Amino acid sequence: MPISKDKCADRRAMYRELQRTMPGLDGMYRLVHALIAGCDDKTSGVLIVGAGGGRELEELAKGRFDGQITALDPSVPNLDLARDVASDHGSSLDVRFLVGTVDDIPQRERFKIVTSLLVMHHLRDDGAKLAYLKGLLDRLAPGGRLVHADVCFDEIEDFDRLAPIYLAHADIFGVSVDATRLELNAIPNLPIISGTRTRVLFSEAGLTEPFEIFRSLWYRCWTSSRAPK
Ligand SMILES: C[S@@+](CC[C@H](N)C(=O)[O-])C[C@H]1O[C@@H](n2cnc3c(N)ncnc32)[C@H](O)[C@@H]1O
Repeated sequence: MPISKDKCADRRAMYRELQRTMPGLDGMYRLVHALIAGCDDKTSGVLIVGAGGGRELEELAKGRFDGQITALDPSVPNLDLARDVASDHGSSLDVRFLVGTVDDIPQRERFKIVTSLLVMHHLRDDGAKLAYLKGLLDRLAPGGRLVHADVCFDEIEDFDRLAPIYLAHADIFGVSVDATRLELNAIPNLPIISGTRTRVLFSEAGLTEPFEIFRSLWYRCWTSSRAPK
């Protein structure tokens, strides 16, 4: 059953406030937008993996991207939020919503750009992260590009060093205490890996070395593509 409009509005407001907890995070979505808009092959479309919440769609709706977008997420309520965001922007985006993971996309489909923003840090490093990356690689069209973001720490102590800066930023810029705490409490419970481990997993999956395009506190975003055999 779809969630009610009011509940959706509350969740959207909280999700938007969560984005404000991370200094400059809107810049990451803008960079992803720029990469997608700069893609010259509109025919093979864009795959947004973990599209729940709708941040990617909200950002893309600000531009003139007219290619096909597949918005994929295994969580029905999260995908409903994304649908709600897209419907606010009328028919400006050509979006197909799919509930599921990359394995649920028809085998023959390949995409010029695959985005995977803030998804993999939810998966355990027991083979699940590697399988996830291999699944993303399988979805890339020839010459396609992966845009991948994750929470990432190189040293475990980095969280303790960065948290006071995060809290000071929230205080100065009036970010809601609930959102600030929600993000902070979630981080220690995620199966986060280092940049070094991320590079190893990319290599094992058959992807090129991730190239960093964005970093703020514990959020990082990279681009990558299929590694030559
Ligand atoms: C933190 S949210 C990020 C959403 C969005 N990409 C963004 O940047 O705001 C993570 C999303 O990934 C989804 N997710 C979790 N496991 C997934 C998987 N294996 N494949 C695709 N999406 C997944 C969750 O349901 C959730 O909506």
